[in-house]
Formats: sequence, C-alpha cells, structure tokens
Amino acid sequence: MKRPIIAGNWKMNNTNAGTKALLTELAPLVKDAKCEVVVCVPFTDIDTARKAIRGTKIKLGAQNVHWAPKGAFTGEISAEMLKELKVEYVIIGHSERRQYFGETDASVNARLKAAVGAGLKAIVCVGETLEEREAGKTNEVVTRQINGAFEGLEKIALKSIVVAYEPVWAIGTGKTATAEDANDTIAVIRKAIRKLYGRTAAGAMRIQYGGSMNPKNASELMAMPEIDGGLIGGASLKAEDFAKVVNY
Ligand code: PGA
Repeated sequence: MKRPIIAGNWKMNNTNAGTKALLTELAPLVKDAKCEVVVCVPFTDIDTARKAIRGTKIKLGAQNVHWAPKGAFTGEISAEMLKELKVEYVIIGHSERRQYFGETDASVNARLKAAVGAGLKAIVCVGETLEEREAGKTNEVVTRQINGAFEGLEKIALKSIVVAYEPVWAIGTGKTATAEDANDTIAVIRKAIRKLYGRTAAGAMRIQYGGSMNPKNASELMAMPEIDGGLIGGASLKAEDFAKVVNY
C-alpha cells in the first residue's frame, strides 16, 4: 500500500516567530496522522522549522533548489545546502515558479536531477492553465510537463519523487477541480509515467492533488483512487485547517 502524503506549501509566508508558533501548534494535532506530513517552508525558516518539528511526525521541505552544485548563481540555493540543513523534501516546478520566475520543463528537469542526485526527495508540480484547459489541452500539457521533467532520469530515482497535479486555475482561487476531474487528469499523468517507466513504477508513484484543497474538500479528493495526497497552500498556514486536511 502506498502511504498518502500531505504537504504544506507555505510559499512566501511566515518569519521565524510565525514558523515556530505554527509548527508548535500543529505538531500535537497531527501526531496520529496516518499519512506522511511535510511542511515546505521558506529558506529562511528552515532552521527554525527543523528545531520546532524535532521529535514530531512532521517532515521538513523547501520550495526550490538550484541545478548546479555551486557557482555564480546569485540568489540560488543548492541541493547540498538543503541537505546540510536536514531538509528531506523539495518542491520543484511549482506553477508560480513557472509563471513568475521563468521555470521551464528543462529547468525543472535539471533541478529534479540535482535534487535526487543529492539525496533529496522531490515534489514535482505539473498542471494546466485555465486557457489550456478551455482549449482542451489539459492532457497534452501535463503529459508534456511529465516527459520534460523526467527526461533522462533513471527509474531508480522514482522512489524519491512525488508528483503534484495542480491545475493553475485552482491555486489560491477557491476553485477546486472536481474530485472526478482531478482523478481523471492524475490518471493521464500516471499513464505518461507508465509509458516512460512501466506499469509497476507508475502504480507505485504517489501523485498529489493541489489547488484550493481544504478541510471541506480533502476527504472527497483523498477518496479518489488515483489521488495519493495533497499539496496545500493557503490552508497550510493555519494549524487547525492543515491538521484537518492531514486527518482527512
Ligand atoms: P492553494 O495552493 O492550496 O492555496 O490553492 C496550492 C499550491 O499552490 O501548492
């Protein structure tokens, strides 16, 4: 059985004080969680978060990683730097990175290789825009993003990778994909992985849904056969709400 994984994506929220307060409140609320619980915090909160979750079920994640081991890349952070801070997971290719910071399938691929190569676990994000959905291109877009992200990646790396399907139009908008639509698109994503790596590997891959997932819709989404977890933005910023999603 695959263990579901619920991850919070804090985005650019919380200073150290807020991080400590939120995680201290969250830890007891998720102590009986059956799923894997991760919080992906800003770089500057990593050390505070690491201390706050010590001895709890919560795992530590970052929100981006550079592809090079080191060098002249002002403002970037390497996989080794994250490892040194005991980071376990890293989000790669979030739609906000693609939209505002010029991430492409190729840069996502390079970051993914660097992350797994350094021993990090990756949450790779894919998803269509509203325009692409309305043009009937959803399946084509997510398949292209999967093929791009996994280009040249060995099958062995798959055990360190989680995929997050996040329709861009559902992120932070309060509009959730229907559970059926999310399930159908995740099936398309799994098919793309199957074509690359075979049935067993595709079946074992954990694929999350993300986009306005919250305490109200979490159980319905998590009941879908293709959905193995959630990537939670807004609702991960309140301990009570995130705990309700985790304990769906
Ligand atoms: P949201 O964000 O839950 O606020 O829609 C999800 C995400 O961007 O990962």
